[in-house]
Amino acid sequence: MYYYIKTFGCQMNENDSGLISTLLKSNGYLPCATPDAADIIIVNTCCVRQSAENRALGFIGSLKSLKEARPELIIAVCGCMSQQSDTAEILQKKYRQVGIITGTFATALLPQYIEDYATTGQRIIDIEARYDHKEIGNICPEPNEQQAYRAQVNINFGCNNFCSYCIVPYVRGRERSRDPQEIINQISCLAACGVKEVQLLGQNVNSYGKDMPEAGWDFARLLEQINQITGIERIRYMTSHPRDFNRRLAETIAALPKVCRHFHLPVQSGCDRLLTLMNRGYTTKAYLDKLAMIRQLTPDAAVTSDIIVGFPGETEEDFQQTLGFIQQARFDAVYTFIYSQRSGTKAAEMPHQISAEIKNLRLQQLMAVQNPISLARNEELVGTVQEIMVDGISKNNTVMMSGRTSGNKIVVFPKSEGLKAGDLVKISITAAGTWNLSGAISENIDS
Ligand code: SAH
Ligand code: SF4
Ligand code: F3S
Repeated sequence: MYYYIKTFGCQMNENDSGLISTLLKSNGYLPCATPDAADIIIVNTCCVRQSAENRALGFIGSLKSLKEARPELIIAVCGCMSQQSDTAEILQKKYRQVGIITGTFATALLPQYIEDYATTGQRIIDIEARYDHKEIGNICPEPNEQQAYRAQVNINFGCNNFCSYCIVPYVRGRERSRDPQEIINQISCLAACGVKEVQLLGQNVNSYGKDMPEAGWDFARLLEQINQITGIERIRYMTSHPRDFNRRLAETIAALPKVCRHFHLPVQSGCDRLLTLMNRGYTTKAYLDKLAMIRQLTPDAAVTSDIIVGFPGETEEDFQQTLGFIQQARFDAVYTFIYSQRSGTKAAEMPHQISAEIKNLRLQQLMAVQNPISLARNEELVGTVQEIMVDGISKNNTVMMSGRTSGNKIVVFPKSEGLKAGDLVKISITAAGTWNLSGAISENIDS
């Protein structure tokens, strides 16, 4: 039997798809490259913005004809979108081709549901919220076939922050940390399989351990332990909530050589009035103070952020404050999002929703201010030597290779025969663009 998984959304979902894949393989199923060739199609969905939901629904809709042509085909929909009861109901009623509907708490149960459905043909729906720590158990997912040197590992699940615009706490449940020993064992096992870079995942990694205070663990201590694992050369993590980012963590990171010099600290808005309405729990001043602390402790760090435009009630003046803020912060890159109304969240009920036209205009204006800053930040690296981890042959140009700096910037350089994905190499940076850098292998081995 062949399976095909289509994944929408963030690293959480990618990681969940990896887990489903590992479980299916251990049950004897084989992956295949297209939905047409599959006996089982799994759609792992995201609902963070309407556009993500539309893409998933479009894909599920397109499977109708496949199911009609091959009635024995099994179609399962899982992930964040189906965790919402109203969406699960729509899927049930309007998408008859879907045989299995599971939410984010039932990821590890999906392979069993597939077996059950294959024998009974009875529709299965499981969107119950469970807090039994069985999300991933002790399974050590195989390293990704395309990227055997890099792996993602969940350290905590869920979110307690309830930012007023965000659906994630409703579909991923309350915050819970994984057992530290289980995390360390999993990373050691991945390192033994050749993984060199580990990406620690959580909606808010900074609150790791808060739900198990008696154990005395926090994110800084976890990083210290992971830094000691032989074979692991780089440690990344996402996402950090600015409110919970503190000096102890910044100092720990500065002292740990394997932890990458990249801080992704989503600010969401540069206007204090909106930050309060968003329920973010910090002011622009508090944020800028933390930014200054990071730059003082790790001067070579890259800092990136997320910003939402068109939050309900955002006035022109509020928006101008955000533009002023990003000029002051000088981020290396900003991921910009148009506010999307998510039913069930507080912001969805707020007055003065902003028109699509203004939202689009503000997005363009924001990028017009940020792009030259990103370019200038990248230009500051021209003439330096950066250690990069090789990702492989460049996607756009087969005579080039690409890799990433510790600050997570993409560097393109002429292909070198001896190099393979996962190798660390020193590159002299010769040119910068808004989105990437280019260079050549550094001759100076001392640098
Ligand atoms: N837990 C992470 C990220 C969650 S979602 C964090 O707090 O940083 C990733 C990004 O999507 C968020 O940082 C936010 O900028 C954006 N986002 C979340 N909900 C959104 C919405 N309703 N509309 C537009 N963007 C949204
Ligand atoms: Fe959403 Fe806020 Fe939680 Fe991030 S911290 S997942 S933005 S509620
Ligand atoms: Fe989307 Fe769920 Fe991630 S809503 S952004 S896939 S946590």
